[in-house]
Amino acid sequence: MLALVTGASKGIGFETVKLLMREGYEVVSTSRSMPELGDHRFKLDVSNRDEVESLINKISQEIGQIDVVVNNAGFGIYGSFLETSLSEEEYMVRTNFLGPIYVTKAVYKDMVKRRSGSIVNVVSEAAYVNSPFLLVYSSTKAGLASFTNGLWVEARKYGIKVSGVYPGPVKTNFSSHPSFKGREITPKFSIEPERVAKAILKGIKTGKREIYVPSKLKLDPYFLKLANVMQDITYRLVDKFSL
Ligand SMILES: NC(=O)c1ccc[n+]([C@@H]2O[C@H](COP(=O)([O-])OP(=O)(O)OC[C@H]3O[C@@H](n4cnc5c(N)ncnc54)[C@H](OP(=O)(O)O)[C@@H]3O)[C@@H](O)[C@H]2O)c1
Repeated sequence: MLALVTGASKGIGFETVKLLMREGYEVVSTSRSMPELGDHRFKLDVSNRDEVESLINKISQEIGQIDVVVNNAGFGIYGSFLETSLSEEEYMVRTNFLGPIYVTKAVYKDMVKRRSGSIVNVVSEAAYVNSPFLLVYSSTKAGLASFTNGLWVEARKYGIKVSGVYPGPVKTNFSSHPSFKGREITPKFSIEPERVAKAILKGIKTGKREIYVPSKLKLDPYFLKLANVMQDITYRLVDKFSL
């Protein structure tokens, strides 16, 4: 089985490559810097549609058909919306949201023809929580969640497994973007990237629509609804009594 992993140079992607190789997959690792691990390694910036299409063509012609895709590449920008850089945010949208769509588009027709394949998107708890100071990041993940859930429905009839993995904080280089300077805190409850890699493997094998790591995070979407209701009530009360 040939598996393509994006964002494979470090963190969750690196651990996923390690685990998949241990499990007997032939792994194509990609990231902007050359990944250290993988049976085949390539530089790839997933925000660049032409680069994605030409690399996937090359892989299909020179290595073989892609059975598994792990759309993992991504990064965050921290800061008040008033101050963050729009051009950096555009690049983040292309990386986190459009990147997985470019990669999926490039492999999907072939998977449909073969009536098999697995696509796992690394989303985030941030898709389902209000994230001030990370709001464009969480919007990219909310978009990716929506794409994943819709594809899960469409792809079922072709025998293709689609899964979204939703981690909370993970001990990786995620906060290495300069906007995090001085805020590179790893919360106490952060988990190891190996745990997310295991969830990704589960997604590949089962096609479970949503996999939360840790699993108690599956309550997030309900808490978000409740929090929004409470916020509405609070704002109404504040408006009423401050008049
Ligand atoms: N860490 C967390 O707390 C957390 C929580 C929830 C979800 N996630 C998600 O998990 C995924 C992996 O993040 P991580 O925590 O493992 O962070 P990480 O250690 O910073 O790794 C990010 C990976 O993505 C690659 N990458 C970044 N931009 C890219 C681009 N435009 N094209 C191709 N590759 C790119 C990086 O390699 P290069 O720099 O070499 O390209 C690196 O391999 C991300 O999608 C992130 O949003 C992380």
